[in-house]
Amino acid sequence: MPASSMEELVSLCKRRGFIFQSSDIYGGLQGMYDYGPLGVELKNNLKAAWWRAMVYERDDVEGLDAAILTNPLTLKYSGHEDTFTDPLVDCRNCKARHRADHLTEPKCPNCGSTDLTDPRPFNLMFRTNVGPVSDGSHFAYLRPETAQAIFTNFKNVVDSTARRPPFGIAQIGKAFRNEITPRNFIFRVREFEQMELEFFVRPGTDEEWHDQWVEERLQWWEAQGVSRNRIELYRVPEDELSHYSKATVDLMYHFPHGVEELEGIANRTDFDLGSHTKAQDEYDIAAKVMPNRDSNAKLAVQDPDTKAWYVPYVIEPSAGVDRGVLAVLNEGYRVETLDNGSERTVMALKPHLAPIKAAVVPLKRNHDGIVQKCRDIKQSLQSLGLGRILYENTGNIGKAYRRHDEVGTPVCITVDFQTIEEDDTVTVRDRDTMAQQRVPVAELADYVKEYFR
Ligand code: GAP
Repeated sequence: MPASSMEELVSLCKRRGFIFQSSDIYGGLQGMYDYGPLGVELKNNLKAAWWRAMVYERDDVEGLDAAILTNPLTLKYSGHEDTFTDPLVDCRNCKARHRADHLTEPKCPNCGSTDLTDPRPFNLMFRTNVGPVSDGSHFAYLRPETAQAIFTNFKNVVDSTARRPPFGIAQIGKAFRNEITPRNFIFRVREFEQMELEFFVRPGTDEEWHDQWVEERLQWWEAQGVSRNRIELYRVPEDELSHYSKATVDLMYHFPHGVEELEGIANRTDFDLGSHTKAQDEYDIAAKVMPNRDSNAKLAVQDPDTKAWYVPYVIEPSAGVDRGVLAVLNEGYRVETLDNGSERTVMALKPHLAPIKAAVVPLKRNHDGIVQKCRDIKQSLQSLGLGRILYENTGNIGKAYRRHDEVGTPVCITVDFQTIEEDDTVTVRDRDTMAQQRVPVAELADYVKEYFR
């Protein structure tokens, strides 16, 4: 069973070092969170799983890692300067600000007053000065989505890889939005990460690809432990679509605070490549900086048979890393009552996502022979490249098991006197079943490798 409340997850995340409020010692900074020792591992593992599925396991996707600070022209022609807004209302009584579309009644949720301003559009993009002059004329935006740099690099990637549709460009990275009301822990924040794929297809094949990507993304989330029956598909109605989208399907997950978007899969048509292409024309004519560009310089590709140029359509599966972390934590969390009436908390993460893959624990702390054996085992398992293997010289097996259950460590390996005095075997304990078995040290690497296959 998933976590019953957000409070339980928030508390576990802080207590065990997954996620902290950012700038905590100075009272925090609203809408910002820091990932702690275990959170950074979990987040990296989730991103690695996405990259593996999107780039390594396919042969039609290339990767990209572009700058966060973005030329304002990019976000002008993408439509973000004009349309990337949320409706803002002010309470005239207590001065609190709210998102009009999040109010369930025309009343301030803070003080109850009905004296609210009319909604007005509030642009969510952060901007910052670039260079030493801060007169507002030299500025850049912090990107509100990673996607735009994929579009502006389209030609660079096509030229350097000789790709032709259907193919994709994948990117994972930070995005920033000055959310009016950040809330629900890491669900709605002002600084977050996205895992975005822009998949370029021939116009006319876009709807088929769109359906295919919805199915692929559902399967991927399932492989991360997110149960299919806690995801609902939401076909976004026409009047709610983003300015660039012809059709969007949102994967809505049952988060602890409600059913909300985990990932959006949009058919962006040729909106972005087309709009940046038109912008190039305008820019060339106005600035006369590159007068000799022909259609080859545009964000278009040539049909290999007819030689006609066309602007590809784009299918975009766009997932939030932080929302993904929240979903897998929620899925993994459970509190079990044991036969003796006591309780244990388990974070049943998929092994490939677990922050610590295996903990090596000595039965007796500081015992030379046992400690040395633990170190040797840690080193040999670490070299398998599965992720973090932790050697813990605590000597309290019961406590170590409880802690590792709670942070999702799939296996604990205990070295005891039998190991060093009798048969060179260790106890391997399984997080989910709590079953323990003796495994020869010589077979441990194969045993652990098998576990993570
Ligand atoms: N490029 C398309 C795009 O950015 P979006 O639906 O605005 O589309 C995509 O964002 C995903 O990014 C969302 O499904 C969500 O997982 C994540 N996301 C968006 N805003 C967020 C926020 N303020 N905090 C955390 N994650 C966010």
